[in-house]
Amino acid sequence: MPPQLKTLIPLFAAFILLFLIARHFLVPVSFGEYGHYRFNSIAENKDKPMKYAGKETCADCHDDRANELKTDVHAGLSCETCHGPGQAHCDNPDSVKLIRPDQRAFCGTCHSFNPSRSKIIEQIDLKEHYADKKCIECHNPHLPWQLKE
Ligand code: HEC
Ligand code: HEC
Ligand code: HEC
Ligand code: HEC
Repeated sequence: MPPQLKTLIPLFAAFILLFLIARHFLVPVSFGEYGHYRFNSIAENKDKPMKYAGKETCADCHDDRANELKTDVHAGLSCETCHGPGQAHCDNPDSVKLIRPDQRAFCGTCHSFNPSRSKIIEQIDLKEHYADKKCIECHNPHLPWQLKE
């Protein structure tokens, strides 16, 4: 055996041992039990509270708004896209209020002009399009083409 190996072999053995010890502590419990993932994460995610309720649930109490939304260009949007996660409000409508996103910048997240954006959604220049007013002073957010006077 070449003399160098006398030092290299124990060194390698030490590294492998260290690796195995570190691995033992670093790999989470239940990893690999059913595949290349941490099995316990399924139960943990299942137990998380629901945040979104879905359009149908909103319609149970706000059928007027839901019917409006259906008839115009915003029909494809979910209520919670604009009003935020609403499960807590559905459970306790009187104590949990949802946001009313009435700022120009909010509508701008989808409509502000950006040359690199697809034109599927109509774009306007936030600095030009009736710049001194809130969008909802003219456009009903649920029926955007029903312009207010
Ligand atoms: C169980 C009935 C119920 C459900 C379900 C419900 N709401 Fe409401 N919502 C209410 C009531 C009642 C009010 C009025 C509360 C008040 O003004 O004190 C209200 C008020 C609101 C307001 C106005 C809040 C404000 O401060 O002016 C918005 C926006 C709203 N709901 C959106 C939603 C959305 C979006 C959903 C679905 C995620 C939803 N609601 C589901 C009963 C409900
Ligand atoms: C494009 C964004 C958008 C969507 C989608 C949307 N809303 Fe709204 N909603 C608004 C804005 C903005 C206001 C505040 C309007 C105002 O103050 O005049 C509002 C106001 C409301 C209010 C209070 C109205 C009032 O007259 O007091 C209710 C209730 C409501 N929305 C429910 C819903 C429900 C239910 C859905 C789904 C069926 C929905 N909204 C979808 C933007 C949206
Ligand atoms: C989550 C993205 C989103 C948000 C936020 C949003 N919109 Fe829209 N809007 C759409 C989509 C999608 C359409 C349908 C495609 C289209 O017609 O541009 C649309 C259509 C419109 C149209 C008709 C455009 C046309 O000529 O067809 C108007 C007006 C409009 N929205 C106003 C508003 C106003 C005002 C707000 C803020 C209260 C708002 N939108 C917020 C996605 C959005
Ligand atoms: C003073 C009233 C008024 C205000 C405020 C206003 N709009 Fe409009 N909007 C209109 C009118 C009227 C049209 C019809 C086309 C035009 O005159 O530009 C229109 C057209 C649009 C269109 C369709 C553009 C097209 O080329 O077809 C979109 C999208 C739109 N508005 C979104 C918005 C958003 C988002 C805001 C807020 C940042 C807003 N509007 C504020 C009155 C208004």
